[in-house]
Amino acid sequence: MSSVSGRRILLGISGGIAAYKTPELVRLLQKRGALVRCVATKNALRLVAQDTLATLTQGSVDHDVWKTAGPAHTHHIDWAQWADLLVVAPMTANSAAKFAYGLADDALSLAWLSCTCPKLVCPAMNTRMLHAAATQRNLIRLADDDVHVMPSDSGDLACGETGEGRMPDPIAIADEIERLLARKAAHPLRILLTMGRTEEAIDDVRMITNRSSGRTGADIAREAILRGHSVTVVAGPCDTPISPLAKVVRVRTALQMHQAALEAWPEHDAAICAAAVADFRPASPTTGKIPASRGMDHLDLVANPDILYELCQAKGSRKVVGFALESGDLARGSQKLSAKGADLAVCNDPLLDPTKGGFGTGTVWGWIGPTSATPVGAWMAKRDLAALLLDKLEAL
Ligand SMILES: Cc1cc2nc3c(=O)[nH]c(=O)nc-3n(C[C@H](O)[C@H](O)[C@H](O)COP(=O)(O)O)c2cc1C
Repeated sequence: MSSVSGRRILLGISGGIAAYKTPELVRLLQKRGALVRCVATKNALRLVAQDTLATLTQGSVDHDVWKTAGPAHTHHIDWAQWADLLVVAPMTANSAAKFAYGLADDALSLAWLSCTCPKLVCPAMNTRMLHAAATQRNLIRLADDDVHVMPSDSGDLACGETGEGRMPDPIAIADEIERLLARKAAHPLRILLTMGRTEEAIDDVRMITNRSSGRTGADIAREAILRGHSVTVVAGPCDTPISPLAKVVRVRTALQMHQAALEAWPEHDAAICAAAVADFRPASPTTGKIPASRGMDHLDLVANPDILYELCQAKGSRKVVGFALESGDLARGSQKLSAKGADLAVCNDPLLDPTKGGFGTGTVWGWIGPTSATPVGAWMAKRDLAALLLDKLEAL
């Protein structure tokens, strides 16, 4: 059975030329069993006939908050609550800007702001409009707000030019919708996730840290929320925005992360330890700045607590996923995680080939599996790693 079967999809249509393809998208989704309503901008209805959409959806087309509102005149809010997924296809540059900044001056932007369900957008416009700095900023902003931005296709454009900016084919959009909706977890979990790096002070200026960007952790948080899990993130310093739908506890040092994670653990069903925690910290950090002229021929270090090990000690029947960065030997990572009591291991080697992926990129060489299995590494998108990890965690 299709994952869209019985699901409620609110299709937002803005005034791009590709609006003429939306009746086909409505039909495709309906054929797969979805319930579809449309909310269109006034500009969109210059490019696709309202009557066509209304015929296909049995009149479920909203375009004017004043004229088409229901008895309570809050149609846009009711529809936003009704939806399992809001899809905006095509999304114009103008609508992208409105969504990114929270403007709400028509039926579509009002619905956008009222929707709490996942959102998918399909930007479609002339290549120069797409590459304009403002549009790119808005798309990044939307992605940071946990909106799924489907990349535009390249090819012939309605303006006669050739390039990036075409709306993907309705079949591809329907497939993407199916993929997004397929991921709902049967049993939502309360997940505790550690992510990011830690910073260990040498003095008030200098520190020991590592190159973790927190990207994998942010992808896990986003994917988990999309599936309906609730997520508490204990986040060390990191460069990647974290889903606004996660509860985020910010920490800096390994000791702070240790305390925050152990305190939170009783309220959670599973833990994913993706943070790159410093193994050691300076034994006695100095207040102020150690003058360079004083020199330093050695630095005394002490071991940090092992957060993963302690979570495993207290886990009972709950599940713990451990991460191990192993340069050159993934098997060493899974053995280490097995000894600590983790149920699932993620072993990765971000140093294998920095031209292909690693720290701060969207790709990594890694493996996920039970700690008893022998790792076999592969290049994978961190986003896919997140999905695979959650598939395996949900199946435990
Ligand atoms: C024939 C025609 C086609 C257009 N196609 C696009 C398009 O593909 N993408 C886009 O961003 N804007 C396009 N525009 C410009 C938008 O319609 C315009 O920016 C409008 O304000 C969008 O409003 P809306 O986002 O409220 O629908 C087009 C305009 C015209 C007249």
